[in-house]
Amino acid sequence: MSNAPVNSGRRRFLTLSTAVVGGVGAVAVAVPFLKSWSPSAKAKAAGAPVEVDISKIEEGQLIRVIWQGKPVWVVRRGAETLNKLTEIEALLRDPGSQEPQQPAYIKDNHRSIKPEIFVAVGLCTHLGCSPTYLPDGFGDQVEGVEAGFFCPCHGSKFDMAGRVFKSVPAPYNLVVPPYTYLDDNLLLVGADEGVA
Ligand code: FES
Repeated sequence: MSNAPVNSGRRRFLTLSTAVVGGVGAVAVAVPFLKSWSPSAKAKAAGAPVEVDISKIEEGQLIRVIWQGKPVWVVRRGAETLNKLTEIEALLRDPGSQEPQQPAYIKDNHRSIKPEIFVAVGLCTHLGCSPTYLPDGFGDQVEGVEAGFFCPCHGSKFDMAGRVFKSVPAPYNLVVPPYTYLDDNLLLVGADEGVA
């Protein structure tokens, strides 16, 4: 070990220099960290409402859009399908939509603003698989039901208003997202009625 006298002025200078370099480093690290916390335009867009032109959707047809990373179905239902919604209520777990699976303005057994246009998040309320649209019904599994949605993961079934059948794993009806109409043919998914 050296016995040379310690130059206290030089030591203070070195300590100060280290502190300054350390400070710069902390700032340099903090900037990208803070940047990563501010929502990017892409992230904001991912949560934004989505416009859907419903003018070309034919009776019985289902189209899919993505809203907040989730599949959203838009289906045009015919008069016969709407009539069936009342007839099959004895088969359903929550036919009157008592559970809060839809905005307050989604009422009646058709669970939609315009009766003919059904909008729902296409994810099963059991464990989140995406059910399959069965426009020709469930066959022998549920006789007399004209059309609906079948979840291939564990066999849950939903009617044409996304209402869950009794005795299946899914506990709730499909979620109806907030939405509104910008005009007769333009739907805005992700915005509450009156907000758009
Ligand atoms: S995830 Fe649909 S029945 Fe289980």
